[in-house]
Amino acid sequence: MMTAAATVLYQKESSIAWVTLNRPQVLNAYNLDMRDELYTTLEAVRDDPEVRGMVLCGAGDRAFCAGADLTEFGSAPSQAIARQVRWERDVWGLFLSITKPIIAALHGYVLGSGLEMALLCDMRIASDDAVFGLPETVLGMIPAAGGTQTTSRTIGVASALELLLTGRRFSAQEAFSKGLINRIVPRAQLLSETLATLESVLAANQQALETVKAVIHRGLDLPLDKALNLENRVAASSLVSQGGNVQTWQSPVQ
Ligand code: COA
Repeated sequence: MMTAAATVLYQKESSIAWVTLNRPQVLNAYNLDMRDELYTTLEAVRDDPEVRGMVLCGAGDRAFCAGADLTEFGSAPSQAIARQVRWERDVWGLFLSITKPIIAALHGYVLGSGLEMALLCDMRIASDDAVFGLPETVLGMIPAAGGTQTTSRTIGVASALELLLTGRRFSAQEAFSKGLINRIVPRAQLLSETLATLESVLAANQQALETVKAVIHRGLDLPLDKALNLENRVAASSLVSQGGNVQTWQSPVQ
């Protein structure tokens, strides 16, 4: 079944949701329509019990997403108002509320909000031609799709500062060496390799996957001793095994 919205496509294939940013004529620039349609789509992914995992990708040959739609910034009464309307719907919070595994499949330009969106996913697989960048400061803005926080949490403060302060573009190879992406694959295999990766992830116990995601994210906000304690408590209370088989998961992270 394919539901075609103007700016975001949602396709469900067995237990996997394919979510495609779909404004290829403007390199999938993120505008208000896309915000609204992505919000609705992510709610569907979150709430559909048949969906066990999600791939986020971009339509067309040239880009995953070339960032926020710069023409909307020009048409809004002020940059502050342009930003404000984006906050009316917390798409970024919605990404983080999805307990199912999400993989971003990245090709071509992955700039600004595009990269920030990818950083809200659990894994990032990029084609060898991908070009990355967080150019907001160069444009007189700061990242506002979580980038100031997710970049440093993903690759550390020193690398995050360098990328955010310079706004320079960088290659898939550099993104990989910094730990910003998990894998590089040839362009022709991007979607098939992403699907294979997600399928292998989904072979595991769903509750285990969701719990480990939650514990990692929750632990990042805690001092190490408390984070280790969290892991201990969740591991002890959640897993009841018999003969090595997972029987029940009793206590997801509160
Ligand atoms: N917002 C709105 N439109 C955008 C866009 C964006 N972020 N990025 C690209 N587009 C549009 C272009 O205006 C162009 O539209 P047109 O055909 O109607 O003129 C179309 O997408 C193709 O882009 P174009 O600039 O012609 O391609 P290019 O190969 O010469 O350059 C980029 C590609 C990505 C280097 C260039 O488009 C660019 O710098 N985009 C802005 C990136 C950016 O700063 N994003 C915001 C981060 S906060």
